[in-house]
Amino acid sequence: SPSTTAPIDPHALLAPELSRIRSQLFNLLGSSHPMLSEIASYYFQHPSKQIRPLLVLLFSRATNGLGSQFPLKAWAAEHARLSANELNAPLERADVLCDFNPSMPDHTASFNTPFDLQPPPQRAYPTPPTSPSSTHVPTLSYTLLPTQLRLAQIVEMIHVASLLHDDVIDKSPLRRGAPSAPSAFGNKLAVLGGDFLLGRASAALSRLGSGEVVELISSVITNLVEGEILQMRGTGLPEVDVTTSMLSNTTTEGTVPPPSLKLDRWSIYLRKTYLKTASLMAKGARSAVVLGGCREGEMWKEVAYAYGRNLGIAFQLVDDILDFSASSSALGKPGSGTDLRLGLATGPVLYAAEEYPELEPMISRAFKGEGDVERALTLIHASSGVARTRELATAHAEKAREVLQMLPQSDARDALEALTEGVVRRGW
Ligand code: FPP
Ligand code: MG
Ligand code: MG
Repeated sequence: SPSTTAPIDPHALLAPELSRIRSQLFNLLGSSHPMLSEIASYYFQHPSKQIRPLLVLLFSRATNGLGSQFPLKAWAAEHARLSANELNAPLERADVLCDFNPSMPDHTASFNTPFDLQPPPQRAYPTPPTSPSSTHVPTLSYTLLPTQLRLAQIVEMIHVASLLHDDVIDKSPLRRGAPSAPSAFGNKLAVLGGDFLLGRASAALSRLGSGEVVELISSVITNLVEGEILQMRGTGLPEVDVTTSMLSNTTTEGTVPPPSLKLDRWSIYLRKTYLKTASLMAKGARSAVVLGGCREGEMWKEVAYAYGRNLGIAFQLVDDILDFSASSSALGKPGSGTDLRLGLATGPVLYAAEEYPELEPMISRAFKGEGDVERALTLIHASSGVARTRELATAHAEKAREVLQMLPQSDARDALEALTEGVVRRGW
């Protein structure tokens, strides 16, 4: 039932957690190369909406303890006590354990004498800090687990790693209202900074102690890359002929040629939108539920995934609209026609092409013809492309809101509801 009180502000509900998550991220990025730490943490120094961490924390709060036989507070305290020690050990622990140590016998000697290899002396892991006032992830609220707070950080680290790579690929000069990392440090260091972040995110991910979550979040990294590749394939091709070896069938008659899948531009565009944006939100939210370990978990996992997927698609559709309607200063990154200049035909263009077929050949040649970008912008603004893309975004946001109704009422559910509206209203 719709709430009659003033809508809740999702950021305000979790403001202390979000600010702790941000400030503590710097602790996860220490390196023997200060430049690497500086680049990896560069985008965290600028304000951002932290929508992905917010999603993880809100789903945690909305589902933790659901159906639990135990009093939530006692259960959370026990879980926090058990996970805190493991979580708080320095993320470079593997280096501490494995680095060449002058007091150890030369590792290479063993390659020649495999049969009389002595077991290595037992080495203890460095002792994690035990005092509750130590640097990492304290429980700020008994409704959130330390593993879920850390998941929120991991999700943001992966997002920022993809932005570091994206700004190299897109040759983008601006991000979060400041020079982009490639502008500030050069392409090579921006790429390496992204890789470093992925490595640290992986170490942190393994500490969460859930194979299911490791698998979900790892698959997000591949999805981001698949989305980026699909976006490149969609560039300048009227119809992409996707033949996949996975579809090939070996029968007694021999190998059947794989069926050819004709993917039209809309299918490519929507699939790409899921892969590059919605996957992280959907699987991040789902992982939050996994870590919470509530009963009837399977159902709540589906709810989280479906919500994140629809919210993510709505979010990216709006982002694609803003590329035609918002100024660079409002976005903190280059605006107005950037996607067209990159050769990308997003929702507003695909709709506009239905009204102005003249856009078809321009899409096919990725707006590389003389005056294509300017002419396309004129046609798109004359068309209902932006309005129809907004309707599509609203439909996905509505779906997200609908699926939330399966959750019991809570402040977190209200906040998630407000978030769907915020995503669609952004910037207009
Ligand atoms: C921003 O999109 C970019 C992404 C959402 C994902 C980019 C993914 C990669 C570059 C693959 C590599 C991934 C990892 C994890 C290292 P955009 O360019 O449309 O938006 P923008 O206007 O914010 O730049
Ligand atoms: Mg891009
Ligand atoms: Mg970009």
